[in-house]
Amino acid sequence: MRRPRVLVEPDYEALSRRAAALIDQAVREQPALVLALPTGATPVGMYAALVDLHRRTGTDWSQVTTFNLDEYAGVGPDDPESYAAYMRRHLFEHVNLHPARCHLPDGLAADPAAEAARYEAAIDAAGGIDLAVLGIGTNGHLGFNEPGSALTAATHLAELSESTWRRNFPHLAARAAMEPAVRARYRRAYTMGIGTILQARRILLLASGAGKRAILREALHGPITTQNPASLLQLHPDVTLVLDREAGAW
Ligand code: PGA
Repeated sequence: MRRPRVLVEPDYEALSRRAAALIDQAVREQPALVLALPTGATPVGMYAALVDLHRRTGTDWSQVTTFNLDEYAGVGPDDPESYAAYMRRHLFEHVNLHPARCHLPDGLAADPAAEAARYEAAIDAAGGIDLAVLGIGTNGHLGFNEPGSALTAATHLAELSESTWRRNFPHLAARAAMEPAVRARYRRAYTMGIGTILQARRILLLASGAGKRAILREALHGPITTQNPASLLQLHPDVTLVLDREAGAW
């Protein structure tokens, strides 16, 4: 069995540059690379470093295809909290990706099952994912595959766990006691399934900060369990983790 490759960098800046360098190299080696891409706080520095590499060295993204891991349901691309808006802000507007090759689930789709199936089929039609870039939740989630007694293999509409929702929307969580209606916002998201992720040919996972240390150690060295979705990465033959010292000190 091949163990994951663990790269520990001194700090967040270095982690971001290292992850970006690995992705940039993959694009240079395989111009028509198919990427799965994450959102959240962790990859912000990585996207900035990728944009910097594109500007300084001219890395050509024109043939690259991207599929985001997830998108909130009931939310359109103009909502600033949407991952479509996040991706425009951090990557799409700054490199020469072709808009027709940048994919996210359609948060406004009328038929969730059909939308999930369409997304999964689009990944297949692109030839599958060459490199999946992932973050990890403090609870071990990958995309919005939250811990539970079962996981779903394919792209699907998922319910965010209470802890994930509170972490992603602290301003809404603070208002929830007074305004129960805000509890319903951003509660569901389309997410690649755990099978979609594990079928990627290569996986690159980024994690920063002491808050990720315990769950990462469990994911790598503990039992494989749906209660820690990231533990399923132990089953994948080509995983690289890029961590900062705080996340990787065990
Ligand atoms: P974060 O999220 O980068 O904002 O910590 C990671 C995740 O939830 O997958």
